Amino acid sequence: MKILFLDQSGKPGGAELCLIDIAKPYRDRAFVGLFADGPFKTLLQQNHIPVEVLTNQAISVQKSSSLLQGLASLKQLIPLIIKVVQIAQDYDVIYANTQKALVIGAIASFFARRPLVYHLHDILSKEHFSQTNRSIAVNLANHFASLVIANSQASQTAFVQAGGRADLTAVVYNGFDSKIYQTCESDVKQLQSELGLAGKFVVGHFSRIAPWKGQHILIDALAKCSEKVTAILVGDALFGEQNYVQQLHKQVADFGLENRVKFLGFRADIPQLMTACNLVAHTSTFAEPFGRVIVEAMLCGTPVVATKAGGAIELVEPGINGFLVKPGEPEELAQVINTCLQETDKISTMANNAKNIAGQRFDVTIINQQIAQLLSSKFHHQISPSLLTNL
Ligand code: UDP
Ligand code: GLC
Repeated sequence: MKILFLDQSGKPGGAELCLIDIAKPYRDRAFVGLFADGPFKTLLQQNHIPVEVLTNQAISVQKSSSLLQGLASLKQLIPLIIKVVQIAQDYDVIYANTQKALVIGAIASFFARRPLVYHLHDILSKEHFSQTNRSIAVNLANHFASLVIANSQASQTAFVQAGGRADLTAVVYNGFDSKIYQTCESDVKQLQSELGLAGKFVVGHFSRIAPWKGQHILIDALAKCSEKVTAILVGDALFGEQNYVQQLHKQVADFGLENRVKFLGFRADIPQLMTACNLVAHTSTFAEPFGRVIVEAMLCGTPVVATKAGGAIELVEPGINGFLVKPGEPEELAQVINTCLQETDKISTMANNAKNIAGQRFDVTIINQQIAQLLSSKFHHQISPSLLTNL
């Protein structure tokens, strides 16, 4: 099957990292069209996935945009739509991986007469999106998509609650290659000494820096923990949240935590860093659609605490493979950190358990088979038998 993937971002957020794994098996007959240049393009190239940036104009619609703002940007999108329609002639399916990709993909699928798949990586709730954006996404998906792949039951439920057609949807979790998370002990030790973490109890936070990812909650919790506890904040403000970055630095200074909080920026060595941590904290204050970092921590064998909302509830079974705490509650988080500090043996048994469960449940080969089966069951009539065996 020849797939034209579309993604609006030039930066590697979770949806983009997931797309790399999905596109890889199709790379000799797929093409990724991006709506912005950036390091995501380089990552696709490194994985030998054909990619091109289809526009050099920034698309001005935001998650909070109104209908008028949305309509005003439509004119600006026409050259991009024409380009996608032309490219789509050579592909069997258009696969939209983000919301703006859905808008362009839906219109292009109509003109190019190609079926549309929408991979839904978002929770379409009022906390995350304006009413206008939610109804545009749901209406376009309902009318143009043949299949909506939701990254969790939480994302699927929110889609249906926002008016989306349940019969279009299927839930497929992100897949991971567990080998990538098996690190070399000496690399981890070296990293610990480079970062001055040796001998400390390290809590890691691995997310782009954005208010709803809740880095401020971890800093609040740290102020309530033993001085032995240090935090590393890994990730960058990918979508311009510079005010929040300043706010975090001020919070650290106000609490006098400069020696106990390290801002590491965007890193490519996530498995090594996660392994160097004693606990990974996921602190999203709104429901997380899936939460790749939660699974990645499990695959590293590092205990994980996540907030009890959205996809995280499907990933963490409290006491079995991790901890869940109420979103926005630093006290509860501080208690979990202290428990992990005191009960190391019990916690490490739990983390090993989590590693085994996650390795099987999120195996990228199995997840890719689920996607291949969904595509072949929806679109088998358009694929030649030889391609079907190659799925
Ligand atoms: N990540 C990374 N480098 C960083 C911070 C994060 O590569 O410095 C990766 C992280 O390992 C994860 C992804 O970015 O795979 C974030 O995905 P997640 O689903 O957790 O959240 P999103 O940012 O997509 O909402
Ligand atoms: C989005 C979501 C995140 C999810 C990722 C991959 O970026 O915010 O929760 O893990 O997509 O599906």
